[in-house]
Amino acid sequence: MEINTIGIVGAGTMGSGIAQVAAQVGALDVILNDIADDFVDKGVDAITRSLEGLVSKERITAAQKAETLARIKRSIKIEDMESADFVLEAAVERLDLKLNIFRDLDKTCSPGVILATNTSSIPITKIAAATKRPELVIGMHFFNPARVMKLVEVINGLATSRDTFETTYRLAERLGKSPVEANDFPGFISNRIMCPMMNEAVYALYEGVGTVESIDKVLKLGFNHPMGPLELADLIGLDVILNVMEVLYSGIGDPKYRPCPLLKKYVDAGYLGRKAGRGFYDYGEK
Ligand code: 3HC
Repeated sequence: MEINTIGIVGAGTMGSGIAQVAAQVGALDVILNDIADDFVDKGVDAITRSLEGLVSKERITAAQKAETLARIKRSIKIEDMESADFVLEAAVERLDLKLNIFRDLDKTCSPGVILATNTSSIPITKIAAATKRPELVIGMHFFNPARVMKLVEVINGLATSRDTFETTYRLAERLGKSPVEANDFPGFISNRIMCPMMNEAVYALYEGVGTVESIDKVLKLGFNHPMGPLELADLIGLDVILNVMEVLYSGIGDPKYRPCPLLKKYVDAGYLGRKAGRGFYDYGEK
């Protein structure tokens, strides 16, 4: 099936970032869906601001900005996905919610339409099993900030067909990304490796090995990471990191994935990182 229109469920940071890439780089028509107008408006505002930044840096023209925005259609009804040729879900990371979305998408979307998820931790196989088209369900995992990060992890569930994989891989390339194939085990490739690294940085802080600043400095200057692990945890969201660690710990059953008690304490306190105005660093009131 030729892909002209992509449906994106969830207009948050990831959903809106991916919508921008799809409209701007992929020249696709986008249906950007969320549960209420406010959420969709916030997503479109973020895209508009990002495009304005690109215009002011003379990376795109004002006409290209207008063309990109014109490709994005707002939606608050999942039934709007009826006209999509490919759907990517980027909603909140909750199993019950995602299963409901996939059941609804399965009813709404034409037969043959691929249903992808941007989940960072929920098994693709479990999401696929909620539909009658598990061979057409796949992981398509983008990285934050979606406009900038080159990687897309394309994750095969147990039943994902080769055709589904190849179509999704080619779509990622069309969006200007460099995809990699992974199979469906807890955390896939990316979060299996990255989240324990950040969790270990929190342990180093918890045990007094170093301060927030010194831990981040070591990874930045000693290993050329663009951001330190604690700064990166703040960008991603400490609740997200904790959730992935819990998935790794329960899914693999190895104590090396035990979430750090200090990470849990920060999440309990609502210190979730940049989005909350406070995490390991203070970003001012939100
Ligand atoms: N949101 C959107 N765009 C952003 C951004 C943000 N929070 N921060 C920076 N950018 C954009 C800038 O606009 C700029 O775009 P341009 O090149 O098109 O003009 C570009 O990123 C570079 O920005 P800067 O020059 O200001 O800053 P840096 O060179 O310091 O780069 C960074 C910023 C790209 C965020 C860099 O620090 C980096 O690569 N950090 C690591 C990010 C990372 O590891 N992401 C993965 C997170 S894990 C994940 O998402 C998976 C999930 O499952 C947990």
